[in-house]
Amino acid sequence: MINIEEKEQMNLVIIGHVDHGKSTVIGRLLADTNSLPEGKLAQVKATCARNAKPFEYAFLLDALKDEQSQGITIDTARCFFDTEKRRYLILDAPGHIEFLKNMLTGASRAEAAFLVIDAKEGIQENSKRHGYMASMLGINQLSVLVNKMDLVGYDQDRFAAVRDEYTRFLESLKVEPVSFIPISATEGANIVALSPETAWFEGRSVLEQLDAFEKKSRRTDEPFRFPVQDVYKFTESDDDRRLVAGTVETGTVSVGDEVLFLPSGKGSHIKSVEGFNIPETASAGAGEAVGFTLDTQIYIKPGELMVKASERQPHISSRFRANIFWMGNAPMIKGKRYKLKIGTTHCALKLVDIVNVLDASELTSEQNRQQVERHDVAECILECPRPIVFDL
Ligand code: GTP
Ligand code: MG
Repeated sequence: MINIEEKEQMNLVIIGHVDHGKSTVIGRLLADTNSLPEGKLAQVKATCARNAKPFEYAFLLDALKDEQSQGITIDTARCFFDTEKRRYLILDAPGHIEFLKNMLTGASRAEAAFLVIDAKEGIQENSKRHGYMASMLGINQLSVLVNKMDLVGYDQDRFAAVRDEYTRFLESLKVEPVSFIPISATEGANIVALSPETAWFEGRSVLEQLDAFEKKSRRTDEPFRFPVQDVYKFTESDDDRRLVAGTVETGTVSVGDEVLFLPSGKGSHIKSVEGFNIPETASAGAGEAVGFTLDTQIYIKPGELMVKASERQPHISSRFRANIFWMGNAPMIKGKRYKLKIGTTHCALKLVDIVNVLDASELTSEQNRQQVERHDVAECILECPRPIVFDL
């Protein structure tokens, strides 16, 4: 029952400082590739004219919310976009600091990112903070769009200055950007095709860059991870089977595979794969909600992680070091107890030590801090009363 997608899909996020033009880039991309429903552009332009409001490409995103037509779907800040090569899910992240949490949620599943910087205003606080967050989330394909080039007369030196300054910042994060592209989202320069305004530029357009991003390995190619949600006992009197239920996080598993439950370490083999209203199948893969029966009766509890014995094993520890991005209104305090939720398990968690606190926009670090403030990134030592299972 492993899903084979017809067309490769890639998740992408657009990040950057507030008002630097993220939504406009997406609106322009949709408009210039004829990805909008018939008449949509004219309709939005007419509405603007009627209300004596200047037209904005960013309005297209609002106008398309919850709409499904001609293969594009857009809700809140997500839109699907197709090229010949792939289907993209583009997440339009908000640039305002108050919405950093939304930005992170959107970016956490992204495989590549466009980071937009206003050529005139230059690098701002969230240009850096977002770049840092992207690297922290492991998005290793970053293309920087130096936008609003029309406001600086498509000046090559201005582009080079922003590129060089931001490259130095990324170097300190050990991030190597995939490309820098000078663009004007409102004028459509270098969005779909290269513009004569930037004859000096020899790279790719935004659209070409999209298809040039490399696809990460599919989640089904990773080791099998199945956080146990629940264990059901069959109620028929002569049926003593138990059904281990949950959703496959990554990887695949098949009938006959040897599995281990962690942290208890109990082992068995998959006897059957069951689902609601589906024919019995022999295997299950990432994203599927299923149940398994085992060939031996073992007692396991919800919260354990089922893995395959033959694959790379996760870590098991009660004490670990982690980089934390703190979003709470109140600071995170050394010595205080918190609650950790991971997979289907949760346990008490103590912040044992704050090794280092980083200002994510300035990359200055501070030792000997007793607490972690809102929007700080901190390297911490954490401890649970019992071992937990995790991948790095
Ligand atoms: P947030 O979502 O609030 O973070 O902003 P954003 O980054 O999505 O910016 P948005 O696309 O809404 O654009 C902000 C303003 O910049 C709008 O008024 C746009 O018209 C303008 N703008 C965007 N791109 C360009 C450009 O290439 N040139 C010029 N001159 N203005 C632009
Ligand atoms: Mg926006």
